[in-house]
Amino acid sequence: MPQTASNTLIELGSKLLKGVCESPRMEAEILLAKASKINRIDFYKQVFHIDRNQEKIFNQSIELRSNGMPMAYILGKKDFWSLTLHIDKNVLIPRPESEHLVERALKNLPKKSFNCKILELGTGSGAIAISLAKERPNASVIATDISKRALSLAQHNALENNVHNIEFIVSDWFQELKKMKFNSIVVNPPYIDQNNKTTYDESTLKYEPEIALFAKNKGRESIFSIIKNSPYFLEPAGSLIIEHGFDQSKYCQGLMREFGLVNIMSTKDYNGHIRITEGFLNT
Ligand SMILES: C[S@@+](CC[C@H](N)C(=O)[O-])C[C@H]1O[C@@H](n2cnc3c(N)ncnc32)[C@H](O)[C@@H]1O
Repeated sequence: MPQTASNTLIELGSKLLKGVCESPRMEAEILLAKASKINRIDFYKQVFHIDRNQEKIFNQSIELRSNGMPMAYILGKKDFWSLTLHIDKNVLIPRPESEHLVERALKNLPKKSFNCKILELGTGSGAIAISLAKERPNASVIATDISKRALSLAQHNALENNVHNIEFIVSDWFQELKKMKFNSIVVNPPYIDQNNKTTYDESTLKYEPEIALFAKNKGRESIFSIIKNSPYFLEPAGSLIIEHGFDQSKYCQGLMREFGLVNIMSTKDYNGHIRITEGFLNT
């Protein structure tokens, strides 16, 4: 069977990805590793002969990437916290910034906390809920989403990561959670102004689900509904931790105050942007 040398394909792929992404060579290597099932590091040790079928898969991946498809959708996976998660077009690609949300939530949840109840609203791939459930194995976690497809992927991700203390519930925010109370509610809601769709990064718009990104009323609709209802679902001293746009912290703080939360605080993400606000129910 005719074959092509791995270094030739990597050079070719790198050239085609130039200007498309920040690290064309690394991405070409990763895509060839996936197509050929060879460990990427081994490309530095020797030249491999890639058969026609593998070359075809590689070329298709390079084409998808050239058209702007994010690597996580091409590879079907993404690392987050200590996890590797399956990713498909039904879920947002979890962002490193959301690991900060996990950190903030863990800070309020003692390590040995038994009977501790955690809720993640809008779990998507399950990234945040599974990270929390893994770090706090004695806690009971509920993860919700309005998308059944997202929820079934999140469920799959929990099992793959050997996490069994999460219940998954299809729900429009709090709707199906009547009378439940939590020590911590975490949420990364859609918060981008839906009127700004045209100015938003084209590849995100083309590939990531709109329901995960955009909200009415200048991107505030979901934030409003979640903060307004959260006091009914928090235990005394329980916390609501919300991720939001870099210019929405004052809005979130004002709403938390208006709906009775206390000790309100906003924190910066790893890039120095104020992207997380938390508040507590009075004891
Ligand atoms: C920004 S994404 C966050 C996904 C995931 N938590 C993460 O951080 O990667 C928002 C999530 O909220 C879900 N969502 C949107 N509207 C919803 C609603 N009304 N009720 C419940 N979930 C909703 C979307 O399906 C999506 O999974």
